Amino acid sequence: MYVLGIESSCDETAASIVKDGKTICSSVTASSLRLHSKYGGVIPEIASRAQLECINIVVDNALKKARIGIRHIGLIAVTRGPGLIGSLLVGISFAKALSYARRIPLVGVDHVQAHLYAAFLDRKKGVPVRFPFVGLVVSGGHTCLSYYKAFDTFTIVADTLDDAAGEAFDKVAKVLGLGYPGGPLVERFALNGNPKRFQFSCGNPEAGDFSFSGIKTAVLYKTREIAKGVRLSQQQKSDIAASFQSSVVSSLVSKAINVVLKKKADTLVVGGGVVANTLFRSELLQKSKAVGVRVLIPAVALCTDNASMVAGLGYQLYRLGKRDTIHFKPRLY
Ligand code: KG4
Ligand code: ZN
Repeated sequence: MYVLGIESSCDETAASIVKDGKTICSSVTASSLRLHSKYGGVIPEIASRAQLECINIVVDNALKKARIGIRHIGLIAVTRGPGLIGSLLVGISFAKALSYARRIPLVGVDHVQAHLYAAFLDRKKGVPVRFPFVGLVVSGGHTCLSYYKAFDTFTIVADTLDDAAGEAFDKVAKVLGLGYPGGPLVERFALNGNPKRFQFSCGNPEAGDFSFSGIKTAVLYKTREIAKGVRLSQQQKSDIAASFQSSVVSSLVSKAINVVLKKKADTLVVGGGVVANTLFRSELLQKSKAVGVRVLIPAVALCTDNASMVAGLGYQLYRLGKRDTIHFKPRLY
């Protein structure tokens, strides 16, 4: 079955065609990021206006690239939340109208959970799914560990207490004057830095939920202390970036592996923008191998927001009997 996935929860407008929840036939993403960069963060009104202008073209391109027509689509899966209300409404309204006009079934999908599905997708025949697995989503808005018995049966083990990990990357980049979005910039600066130069902590590793607001503040104070009113040198910025990154990565990796071992789960599945981080990927692979945990990591291009993950999870939920009508509402939290 061909599924049309639509994602518009933040600054991206994305559409993708995925076959049988496994194979990505096309994936098209338009981003309004350039319009937001001078503000240092996403401006909701600018994002939703840009999405309104391009959603038709993006969906059309996804169909063309997959070399199919709308008549071949068996299901429409759309992000129902969490996200920016104006942005979500653009994707949801489009999906509802298309579903109604063409009598195509519709399924609303949770954006955070969809991030994990990226690990099961590729351009060939997909990656086998084995339950139970522990899922770790590390994105700009969420840091969330869940235990899955099925795609529609999961419990949240640890959630976002304050700043999400990606948000902390973005804020640290701002403090260091690197630009927006911060994750890739912090990573680039960290390449030339000494991760042992500063001791930043992500709090008690045994604590339940994830908290990254403390480390963000610690970076701010350290920056003020060493800058003493003048600009930081490139080396100082790199050392701070490397020390921060190393602490966040270690805390994420060890917490996730501990939960997998405790729950005796089969696999650890990760997803979300921060999973694009090279140190995170390598440390996760290395530490999970050391304790014999199977780990599934999405391709870098599928870590950040995309519509293939929405189409994939939508397909699985549809198979489990989930259906939405044109009356379903966006979910903001
Ligand atoms: O999953 P995502 O695309 O959007 C949300 O659902 O939030 O994640 C975006 C987040 C941003 O905070 C961005 O700074 C972070 O992912 N990010 C990274 C990297 N690439 C993106 N963080 C660390 N290292 C990266 N290479
Ligand atoms: Zn996301």
